[in-house]
Amino acid sequence: MTLGKRIDGKALAARLQEKVAQSVTAFTQSQGRKPGLAVVLVGDDPASAVYVRSKHRMTLQLGMESFEFVRPATIDQDELLELVEELNGDPRVDGILVQLPLPAHLDAQAVVNAINPDKDVDGLTPVSTGRLALGLPGLVPCTPLGSLMLLKEELGDLSGKNAVVVGRSILVGKPMAQLLLAANCTVTVAHSRTQDLASVVHQADIVVAAVGQPEMVKGDWIRPGAAVIDVGINRVPAQEEGKTRLVGDVDTAGALSHAGAITPVPGGVGPMTIAVLMRNTLAAAYMRAGLPVPEGL
Ligand code: GUN
Repeated sequence: MTLGKRIDGKALAARLQEKVAQSVTAFTQSQGRKPGLAVVLVGDDPASAVYVRSKHRMTLQLGMESFEFVRPATIDQDELLELVEELNGDPRVDGILVQLPLPAHLDAQAVVNAINPDKDVDGLTPVSTGRLALGLPGLVPCTPLGSLMLLKEELGDLSGKNAVVVGRSILVGKPMAQLLLAANCTVTVAHSRTQDLASVVHQADIVVAAVGQPEMVKGDWIRPGAAVIDVGINRVPAQEEGKTRLVGDVDTAGALSHAGAITPVPGGVGPMTIAVLMRNTLAAAYMRAGLPVPEGL
């Protein structure tokens, strides 16, 4: 039995952050201003507040400007659209991220659609989505891009590999499929209506699990030696009364005895997501300044 390797997302994220920090210095020296990221948080969802805080900290740590806009859950659509328009017009702001999910009375897609695509560091606007589908340069959603970087780091060239993406969300599944296709994989997108998911997953050299269901992908579904990217972050009750723990969408313990390599939760994809957000903010700053994005980012 071959024991799978745990892919160290923290280590690759730290290397990417180091490269971003160096290019931030170069940008700041040549442009006379720091790249800037604006994050909009609506309401008081505790998980969202934690994510926004860590984005803020990392932005500052890498030498960029961080602009935070916290608004009450009662904000109306027009006020939120006005804020996005203001940020679109603010020359200090290179990237705009509206933390999702938004309260149900707001139209999240309409808010995202209002973001200037050149500042769309989440890669979620129709223009960014279209650019990705067409293979044009643009900003790509952070979690899928971070997952692709982990796969390339682990496997090198992905050409010809069978990739199965479990999940078809706008944030992860669909853009992940596009990125794998652009990397010359043969891509299958599986979802809640897929028949015999176990045998579909078993065909894969690369499995990307992004369904938001704790440990839904079982260890014995994994083809021997496959690379597994577990995008899930699910909080479940821990054995100790009243405590919780984080698990992914894959049964990691079971998959370790089949997979060649697997990302742990936490410490796998999560750190890459935020590192890529930093990368995207820097890339947006360079592109907005009419400069080429530095090599290796
Ligand atoms: N909520 C959870 N993940 C994300 C993300 O990648 N971007 C935004 N905007 N909100 C999120």
